[in-house]
Amino acid sequence: MFRSLLLKIVTVSLLSTIGALAAINQLTQISGFGTNPTNVRMYLYRPPNLVANPALIVAMHYCTGTAQAYFTGTQYANRADTYKNFIVLYPHAPDSGGCWDVHTNATFTHNAGGDSLGIASAVRYAIQTYGVDPARVFATGTSSGAMMTNVLAGAYPDLFAAASAFAGVPYACFAGAGMWSNACAGGTLTKTAQQWGDLVRSGYPGYTGPRPRIQIFHGTADTTLSYRNHAEGIKQWTNVFGYSETAAQTQQNSPVSGWTRSIYGPNFQSISAANTPHNIAVQENDVLQWFGLITGPNNPVATTSVPPIVSTTSSSAPVVTPTLPPPTNCASKFAQCGGSGWGGATCCVSGSSCVVMNNWYSQCQ
Ligand SMILES: *[C@@H]1O[C@H](CO)[C@@H](O)[C@H](O)[C@H]1NC(C)=O
Repeated sequence: MFRSLLLKIVTVSLLSTIGALAAINQLTQISGFGTNPTNVRMYLYRPPNLVANPALIVAMHYCTGTAQAYFTGTQYANRADTYKNFIVLYPHAPDSGGCWDVHTNATFTHNAGGDSLGIASAVRYAIQTYGVDPARVFATGTSSGAMMTNVLAGAYPDLFAAASAFAGVPYACFAGAGMWSNACAGGTLTKTAQQWGDLVRSGYPGYTGPRPRIQIFHGTADTTLSYRNHAEGIKQWTNVFGYSETAAQTQQNSPVSGWTRSIYGPNFQSISAANTPHNIAVQENDVLQWFGLITGPNNPVATTSVPPIVSTTSSSAPVVTPTLPPPTNCASKFAQCGGSGWGGATCCVSGSSCVVMNNWYSQCQ
């Protein structure tokens, strides 16, 4: 008993030490970043030797969490140190319980208020102040932070290029409740795909531009936010993107042994984490690939010298295939070598061969 408790304490403190020591620089609080009706606090991480026009990741904590806790408990900051191509904003919820406002109509609606507006203001400020590339702004979070990730994807589709949510609930699932919705959390709140999609579309009335690519992760043994929310989220985002609710492709043991990735189309995927409770491990490498910031099998955009796949202007429009000159060289190891719409090299440099990862991405391995 004592021994296992001791082991637990050692494990937890070791984990937080790894996180804290891994980042070279410290978090800095920023203020005066624009309209912030609920007083969301905002913390910035900038790695040494940052590239010009970096990408931006907004990383959001769980209930009772803090910006500092998500900074030390995830690996985004030390990955920023390594790759130097993005900065991280860690918003800090103003609520005394440390949860995000994911229930008011203001937070669900573009520029209408709530915690989401404070975060959107900080993103706009970062674009103006730190030279952030406006085409590469991303949102991610865990639990309440994953709910806010869904909210931002719905209310601010113009600001975010992609999103990744760990153990959250669909956009507007907590609507009308207080800070906590037993119906949504318990998985008894269900809607049709059309209803869920309509809610997202009402987040920014009249908006017709591209929407952020989104991936949602959820543990099948989650007793805090029922796994049924995963199915509701699949209904919601497949409706928004006009995809079938039946996955076009599934990948076993991806990105973790025992987990299953379902791919519905280039803009939406869900990852079911077998036997995993609410406390799901953040998959930073997979997220950074999804955001197109590092190479890997889940990076949906070209990462070599060819231009990225042109995004469509509406969810129902056909995918525009870029026309590229024929390749002159074979792709290098870990570079893309095929996939739907791919116009680059389909051969690999010697020592590696082209492996099909999914319909949209093949890689030299
Ligand atoms: C917020 O209110 C507007 C106007 O009543 C409504 O159209 C919209 O669906 C509401 N949003 C949510 C998420 O309930």
